[in-house]
Formats: sequence, C-alpha cells, structure tokens
Amino acid sequence: MIEIKSLTKVFPSVTALDKISLTVNDGEFFGLLGPNGAGKSTLMNLLVGYLDPDAGEILVGGEKVTRDGLQTRKAIGLVPQSLALYDDLSAQDNLEIFGSFYHIEKRILRGRIKERLDSVQLYDRRKDKVKNFSGGMKRRLNLIASLLHDPPLLLCDEPTVGVDPQSRNAIFDFLMMLNRQGKTIVYTTHYMEEAERMCSRIAIIDFGKIIADGTVDQLLERLTYDESISIAKNQATMSKAELFKQFGSLIDENDHFELKPNNGFLLSSFFRQLEQNDMSHKFIEMHKPTLEALFLHLTGRRLRD
Ligand SMILES: Nc1ncnc2c1ncn2[C@@H]1O[C@H](COP(=O)(O)OP(=O)(O)OP(=O)(O)O)[C@@H](O)[C@H]1O
Ligand SMILES: [Mg+2]
Repeated sequence: MIEIKSLTKVFPSVTALDKISLTVNDGEFFGLLGPNGAGKSTLMNLLVGYLDPDAGEILVGGEKVTRDGLQTRKAIGLVPQSLALYDDLSAQDNLEIFGSFYHIEKRILRGRIKERLDSVQLYDRRKDKVKNFSGGMKRRLNLIASLLHDPPLLLCDEPTVGVDPQSRNAIFDFLMMLNRQGKTIVYTTHYMEEAERMCSRIAIIDFGKIIADGTVDQLLERLTYDESISIAKNQATMSKAELFKQFGSLIDENDHFELKPNNGFLLSSFFRQLEQNDMSHKFIEMHKPTLEALFLHLTGRRLRD
C-alpha cells in the first residue's frame, strides 16, 4: 500500500526526516511511535502530499505522491494532529461541509454521517455547536470528519491526545472496526501502550530516523533485560538450576530462586531455552518488558521526557 524510499525532509533549522525507508502492507494497522519532534507529523504531511520531500519518494498504491496528485489524495484520509473544525457550527454542519469537499452524493453522505456519528457516540449531540464539545468529543468528530470519503488508507496523527479513557476507547473501537473492514491504517502516537494494543507492526522514529521496526514481539525480542527474575522453587525448577545459571547468578531465597541476569541477557534466548527444556513459563515471574523499555535501551532516553 505504501512504499517510502529514502525520504528526506529538511527545514531551515532541522532535518525532520533523514533517509527514511518503510513499507506498509495492505490491511495493516501500522504504528509510528516516537517522542515530540521525532518527525511523525512531517511524515504524515508528506504521505498525503501537503509537503514536498527534499529527497526520496513515496508511492501509495503504486502511484507517486506529489503535491498536485489528486488521485492519491482521494485514497487517503488524514486525521490531523491539530483539530480542524468549525467551532461555531454544529457537528452535523461540520460533517456536511467536510463531505462537500469530496463531492460525495448527498444521499450517500447523509447516510454515512449518521452511521459515523453513531459509531463514535456523537449522534445525540449532532445539533450542538462544536465550541460546546469536550476535548474528547472534538477529537472524535475530527476523526470522522477526515474519513467521510471512505478512503482505503487512513493516516491518524495522534488522534487520542488529551482525551478521557471513554473517548479513547471509542476511537480505538472505531479504528479497529475500520481495520477489520480492510482499511489500512497508519497511526502515530507517543503512547507505547496504544501501539502495543492496536498495531500489527510498529516503527520507532527518533530525530527523523527509523531506529527499529517490526511486530511488537520482534521488537521486544531485541531487548536486553537486567531486572531480577523470580523463579518458583519446585522439583522441575530445582532440577534445572544449571540451566538457569547459564543466564546469570542464581540466588537461593529459600522459598524461591532469584535470577540476576548476566550482561547482554536476551529474553528471547532465555525463553527459547525454557521451551526446549519443557519448562513451564508459569514458574517464572518478571516485569513484562515494554516498548518503553526498548526505547530507553535504543536511545538512552525515556519516551516522555
Ligand atoms: N513547517 C515547519 N517548519 C519548520 N520546522 C518544522 C516544520 N514542521 C516541523 N518542523 C520541525 O521538524 C521536526 C519534526 O516535527 P514534527 O512535527 O514532524 O514532529 P512530531 O514527531 O510530529 O512531534 P509531536 O509528537 O510533538 O507532534 C521538529 O523539530 C519541528 O520543529
Ligand atoms: Mg506531530
């Protein structure tokens, strides 16, 4: 669906994207994860053709994206990071105006507006002015306003910023429903949990470069782990003490073992060894590794500094 080849975008004071290459397949829910200023929105604006790259190119559905490429733009819905709504108009009027940009037949548009308002739980509030909406309601309206032309590719730029859990879940459910219907979604966020929960594949972007990409499991496999691991003491684990000692120092704590991992301990090889030795994971207790830890490992910084 999307092919990004060695894409570079330079602003006067910063190289926002530095030779980025990425492929997003049809039907994927693709996460673009990175801290403030990483280049996520710049990439979204290039994908839809609002900006020109300084080098490299983007293909969407095999067609090169250009600033006047109306064909590719019809295939894309960009949900912008900053709200783009008319405050003095009602939700319904906003959607009718956005729909008119895409020359959708009136009858079809009406039906779609109703259905979409319903799916983000705003139908009862359709006649209220947007300026009286909560932040979360505005976010939900912003989301459906950009997608009225029913494009096969959705670019969602931090669609859950500053919303309450209820709105957040409504946004997740809506996007996951569209993804199940076959839409391809590129979703930017700096919330690790969102990426872990929804995305089939993730790229981590930092200072305009992709520093890692893959499925959540593939990414976490790269993680070294240095916290101690608690192992229940029983016949099975006691007979495998030598196996555990390959991975670190094993301390006998009477009721359980405590494993202090060696430098460079990789969870993936640890769990592979357990499996090969028919050792159940249920005897092992540890903090679940997260993408947050991976980001820290790759960059030496926290994502939300
Ligand atoms: N139009 C512009 N002119 C000049 N610099 C820009 C412009 N747009 C973005 N930048 C710079 O490019 C870099 C990347 O910005 P971008 O908005 O793409 O980051 P982001 O990952 O979306 O961050 P955030 O999570 O804060 O939205 C930043 O240093 C930003 O200041
Ligand atoms: Mg942004």
